[in-house]
Amino acid sequence: MNYNNPELKFTDVPSGKVGWCSPSNIALIKYWGKSGIQIPSNASVSFTLSKSQTETIVKFSPSQGEQCNINFYFDGIPNTKFAEKISVYFKKIIEIFPFIKQLDFSIYSKNTFPHSAGIASSASGMSALALALCDIENQYFGSFNTKEEFFQKASYIARLGSGSACRSVYGGLVSWGKIEGYENTCDLFGSQVSNDINPVFKDYHDSILIVDSGEKKVSSTIGHNLMKSNPFSNSRFQQARDNMTALLDVLKTGDLDEFNRIVELEALTLHAMMMTSSPYYLLMKPNTVALIEMIWNFRNNTKVPVCFTLDAGPNIHLLYPHKYKNEVQAFINKTLAEFINGDIIHDYVGIGPEKLEL
Ligand code: PMV
Repeated sequence: MNYNNPELKFTDVPSGKVGWCSPSNIALIKYWGKSGIQIPSNASVSFTLSKSQTETIVKFSPSQGEQCNINFYFDGIPNTKFAEKISVYFKKIIEIFPFIKQLDFSIYSKNTFPHSAGIASSASGMSALALALCDIENQYFGSFNTKEEFFQKASYIARLGSGSACRSVYGGLVSWGKIEGYENTCDLFGSQVSNDINPVFKDYHDSILIVDSGEKKVSSTIGHNLMKSNPFSNSRFQQARDNMTALLDVLKTGDLDEFNRIVELEALTLHAMMMTSSPYYLLMKPNTVALIEMIWNFRNNTKVPVCFTLDAGPNIHLLYPHKYKNEVQAFINKTLAEFINGDIIHDYVGIGPEKLEL
């Protein structure tokens, strides 16, 4: 597949604006390790969230110089670091969208979750931007025949910005990466897992417990790269493939004990990979471990099917079926709250991105 297209150039360069709101996602099977141009070493699958979203408005006008000029505003405040990141990203996708060179951009972005939440916003942020670029293509070149074509390209473009972002362009359960025996899966873009999903997973909850909202010491880019020399990487990639097969089965049967086992194994393996990289590092905090123990005790004592997962950071994502919402949220308030230093965001599975009416 090749999206390079020299035809996507304006004859009359327009001014305009587009906006998209796109959610974050939480991986159940983790993407950790990549090769080539953002090709994952194993397939991953995630829940798309509802509340944790990025809203991005892209204003564009004819470029005043040779190079496109980018102004980036985060929460209304100019942010040159982000502007530089976007400029690097635009250079990567210039052959796909040559019209970028003809434009100057002002990009306004804000998260609907608290600024200091410490939640990875790259998935929601990069997917919102990718959708906005595809929207410009759609409006001025009309090159998409179907919605599927539009979202597939948006997922591909989002992947080039941040791997996990390619899963945020769809709602529900979304996979990314070739899965043996599953025809509609590939390494270049995400796709919705829609076959026979057990109803229990359609409105699953994810309460995000912010243990530490500081910036992480080691970026995901560095983490992915360290997998190249990690002595356990090949076993890890095989384990992920086995876990994926088992999880896809669980998503049909609704076996929550098995769901909890696989999801927690994935979270702990992700962090084990960080601890066994060279140089090694640790992103969990003492309270992360304290919370995990309390969650295990609660599950053993009450038989409420709740489990945790982790991103590349110290914060706990508590996953549970809608039916147990009151019990789990009471447990969070009564027992866990004192170990949570930041916000608690009660999120749940969502329907995917939305275009903003401007
Ligand atoms: O998309 P990246 O490069 O920020 O990597 C994300 C990696 C994890 O969040 C740890 C796992 C995942 O699959 O989302």
